[in-house]
Amino acid sequence: MKMKLTGVTLVASLVAGMAMAADKAALVEEGKGVMKAFGGTLKKELLAAVEQGGPVKGIEVCNVKAPMIADKVGGDTGWIVARSSHKLRNPKNAADKFTASVIQEFLDREAKGEMAADMAKAEIVEENGRKVFRLVKAIPTGKLCMNCHGGENVKPQVVEALATLYPDDKARGFSEGQMRGVFTLQKVLD
Ligand code: HEC
Repeated sequence: MKMKLTGVTLVASLVAGMAMAADKAALVEEGKGVMKAFGGTLKKELLAAVEQGGPVKGIEVCNVKAPMIADKVGGDTGWIVARSSHKLRNPKNAADKFTASVIQEFLDREAKGEMAADMAKAEIVEENGRKVFRLVKAIPTGKLCMNCHGGENVKPQVVEALATLYPDDKARGFSEGQMRGVFTLQKVLD
């Protein structure tokens, strides 16, 4: 009897585990879509602004539009969308505990030779008594990003505009391919 019960319990927990894995896979897919909508829209607007008005104009997109796009993309889907980094430009983008630990893990993996473009992490965690799905993806520094996150190549007008808006800017000196930061998404499950 005891054996049977254990067997039933085992099967039940296996099924629950499988259901959870399926849920997680579905959430990863959903999250990827949200991330694509956010990243894609942001990059498109940024590129258009830089092409039209140069990088100083682009700063406006990152400063004003990025949070708006994040809110809009998250909007009615229940997803919270944000960007963060180990080298922050805007202190408002500071990582929460989970994101900070994933950023550290990505940095360690990058130091061992992994490409920023390939790193992502998905997990269901317990936060304040609620189950929350968390998805973090590394963002590599691309050519476009170098206009405002590079080193010596950044134009003086850009340096000046950044200094005015972000007196505590740490997001300079990146090189192409390096992890610039992360997209961090979350959705409360119950
Ligand atoms: C035209 C200048 C400009 C370009 C080009 C640019 N950024 Fe930024 N970036 C900014 C500004 C300004 C902020 C601060 C936004 C804010 O106030 O939230 C920022 C913030 C960020 C953040 C949020 C974390 C933080 O440090 O505050 C990430 C991540 C980021 N940029 C990545 C990128 C990537 C990746 C690219 C290239 C695809 C890129 N940026 C291109 C100006 C730029």
